[in-house]
Amino acid sequence: MPRLIAVSNRVQVDTDGENANRGGLAVALAAALRASKGMWFGWSGEATDEFSGQISFRRTDGVATATIDLEAQDIDEYYNGYANRTLWPLFHYRLDLTEIARDFAGGYARVNRRFAETLEPLIASDDLIWVHDYHLMPLSSHLRARGIGNRIGFFLHIPWPPPSLLMSLPGHRELACSMLDYDVIGFQTEEWRQAFLDYVTVQFEAVIDGDCLCLGERRTRLLVCPIGLDAADFGGAVHTIAARQAETRLAVSAVGRDMIVGVDRLDYSKGLAERFAAYELLLANRPELREKVFLLQIAPPTRGDVPSYQQIRADLGAISGRINGEFASVDWVPIRYVNQGYSRDELFGIYRAAKVGLVTPLRDGMNLVAKEYVAAQNPEDPGVLVLSCFAGAAAQLKEAVIVNPHSAEDVADGIARALAMPLAERIERHRALLDCVNTQDVRWWSEVFLQALTGEPEARTVLRLAEATGSKH
Ligand code: G6P
Repeated sequence: MPRLIAVSNRVQVDTDGENANRGGLAVALAAALRASKGMWFGWSGEATDEFSGQISFRRTDGVATATIDLEAQDIDEYYNGYANRTLWPLFHYRLDLTEIARDFAGGYARVNRRFAETLEPLIASDDLIWVHDYHLMPLSSHLRARGIGNRIGFFLHIPWPPPSLLMSLPGHRELACSMLDYDVIGFQTEEWRQAFLDYVTVQFEAVIDGDCLCLGERRTRLLVCPIGLDAADFGGAVHTIAARQAETRLAVSAVGRDMIVGVDRLDYSKGLAERFAAYELLLANRPELREKVFLLQIAPPTRGDVPSYQQIRADLGAISGRINGEFASVDWVPIRYVNQGYSRDELFGIYRAAKVGLVTPLRDGMNLVAKEYVAAQNPEDPGVLVLSCFAGAAAQLKEAVIVNPHSAEDVADGIARALAMPLAERIERHRALLDCVNTQDVRWWSEVFLQALTGEPEARTVLRLAEATGSKH
């Protein structure tokens, strides 16, 4: 088996033992990296005064990592700037929040170049390279420009926007064209794959050959391969003391009331303001539910240096406060709004204690919380997943109660339906959902992708980014 080099902005190997809340990506990659004696390369999360390309090598939990520090200006322009003030909102259909600045684009190109420069000497001729997410889209082009002819794959964890949205990004042609320096590109859903195809076939007159896209000498396989949960690992939390304690603690504090739970990074794409509005409508229109239910919204803050995140944090504090002020009684608070994260085991117990799992992003590449909620339920008395039709997960989890997160009425009806759902229907839906979560899990995902990536190498002419994009832009 060839050695795998995974590359992502963050390198998230478990450092806190079994009780840590590891992301699906971390778990999936760790397993694949261990099996191939591979390495995970990325940013350390730390700043340095002057970029030196010095690499810190570590081995954590059997996984070799190689990380670099970035300058404060890099972090500002590449991570906070282009990645999270430009690409993230644009790729989540939020043109209104998309900030365009040449400094951001410059920082993004610089850091991708720095990644390529630093990584190049570590690459052996038959290594497979797997790049992750929107922070590093042009990395393959930079590696090709340095003569790296290895198989290189890319997985996009977030949506790919429709062509008309993408075209509002200066440099959209270079960015999209650089993607064709990958041998394989994986998308979470057919919708995002199609949006990518729609763009490149029109902009570059690329030709479709089966599931490959051909442009000149370049041939890129486009794959739909939704990321899954480490279902076995997550399900194993059922036996932990932390999970049982969390479930019991919530059951006791619920005093017989039904709990609705939401767990999201504090991000505008998660539709939390719209969710609170839907819950408010539920309480306003169905007075019989007041004092009978409560919403536990867990929302750990994220990307705190980005103004749109500071704004959404302030907004949500105000909205939840207003709703609580309006509806609360002396011994009932309608929304428990919590700005902190919990361990994997505690989350398992929290999900299990909830009658309804509310996952209503306005746009989401996948949403693993939806899958975690399903995996944590007691099969004999499961809760009900209420899921946004705009989460990538909705393409797989069809037996959830699917709602339109933009419609407060639709979400309120979905919650009411979930709360009233008879046991037999809950069991039947849950069985189908769990089957999907267990079958198309994170190992299946990485196997499908890596199988495509190990395909026979295509004859390749290494094109430089400038040559490939020409002067049309
Ligand atoms: C999303 C992205 C990931 C990112 C994560 C956390 O899931 O797809 O690439 O790592 O959010 O965001 P952060 O900015 O804290 O890394």
